[in-house]
Amino acid sequence: MGLFSNPKQSPRSPSYLFPSVIALCLLSLTVLLLYKVDDVVSRTGTVVGHNLEPTPWHVFPQKTFDDEPPQRRAVKIIQCSYLTCRYAAEDITISDSTFEKQPSSDCPDFFRAIRRDLEPWVSTRISKKHIEEAQNYAAFRVVIVGGKMYVDYYYACVQSRAMFTIWSFLQLLRKFPGLVPDVDLMFDCMDKPTINRTEHQSMPLPLFRYCTTKEHFDIPFPDWSFWGWPEINIRTWQEEFLDIKKGSRAVSWKDKVPLAYWKGNPDVASPVRLELLNCNDSGQWGAQIMRQDWGEAARSGFKLSKLSDQCNHRYKIYAEGYAWSVSLKYILACGSVTLIISPQYEDFFSRGLITQQNYWLVDPLELCPSIKSAVDWGNQHPIEVISYAFS
Ligand SMILES: *[C@@H]1O[C@H](CO)[C@@H](O)[C@H](O)[C@H]1NC(C)=O
Ligand SMILES: *[C@@H]1O[C@H](CO)[C@@H](O)[C@H](O)[C@H]1NC(C)=O
Repeated sequence: MGLFSNPKQSPRSPSYLFPSVIALCLLSLTVLLLYKVDDVVSRTGTVVGHNLEPTPWHVFPQKTFDDEPPQRRAVKIIQCSYLTCRYAAEDITISDSTFEKQPSSDCPDFFRAIRRDLEPWVSTRISKKHIEEAQNYAAFRVVIVGGKMYVDYYYACVQSRAMFTIWSFLQLLRKFPGLVPDVDLMFDCMDKPTINRTEHQSMPLPLFRYCTTKEHFDIPFPDWSFWGWPEINIRTWQEEFLDIKKGSRAVSWKDKVPLAYWKGNPDVASPVRLELLNCNDSGQWGAQIMRQDWGEAARSGFKLSKLSDQCNHRYKIYAEGYAWSVSLKYILACGSVTLIISPQYEDFFSRGLITQQNYWLVDPLELCPSIKSAVDWGNQHPIEVISYAFS
């Protein structure tokens, strides 16, 4: 993942100086690296990932590089402060045109959300100080200069989140060569937003993460699972999406089980999921609530929890977990009617969904009755309710 660039050569230097200067540079760089490696290892912390800790398939081994020769270790420890980040002394500001352009007619409505995300910095712009302050909350920093990406790590992210997120930036650069503007951004990969709007009122910090809320400044970015979540056997969104579609179409909506279904992990400090367990009565509440046993699923290689096999019900419930849940897109892809329990967190795409058009909004304060009335109404009005489903 480390993208190292050669030290830039100044085109004006006399040519006979090059070999010796470069040799000297490389030598001192190597010495510096070997000298600093231990220091860096000890500073690269591992933050225990909020809700992930209790799941048996998740361990947080401190990264050790002991069994590798120092040179390899040096390469693995990506620390751009020594190698790559040419951090300009002047402020990095977002160009005026980014904000001031009016939404054009060919820009989907959905992009409004991005404007709203960046609104806190319309008048102040984003200065070097903003970025430096945001570093206190970030796991890594991504710098893109001239189409090249540099990454600086502060904390190890849980599982493979960092790798897939960085991979996503690389895909972006590959897909739009020459079109990605220079950027310097801080990213955190934990579940919950941290830049509280009240507390950071005087100086909003720009920090990217996988979700946000109305009470936070955090800027949502697509989560790693779009590019893969190998720890629980989830492939890229493109692959999963096609499979889910295929699995879902095996049975027409009318022939699906006329109940609302939820399967997941209720033990993630999510009150709404615990509450949901009380609705597990197909007669009384029209709902089937299943516990995903992660230990069992992990042992069986997640074969039985295959997403494409989970589209057999007319209604599928989305319940937030510890924060937003990556499951929303898989649920929506089922072609069932999605019952979303009024969410608190927003990820980058859920802001584009329209209530009572793309999904059915369930009242968390009247949870079981609200599910029941959706199921009853839908079963009696199949033609109307089916328009809620993505097909
Ligand atoms: C934000 O901070 C304020 C003041 O400390 C606090 O009352 C509020 O609960 C916080 N909001 C969130 C969503 O954590
Ligand atoms: C919900 O009810 C079904 C059928 O009675 C049962 O198999 C399942 O284990 C229950 N779910 C939970 C989470 O208890």
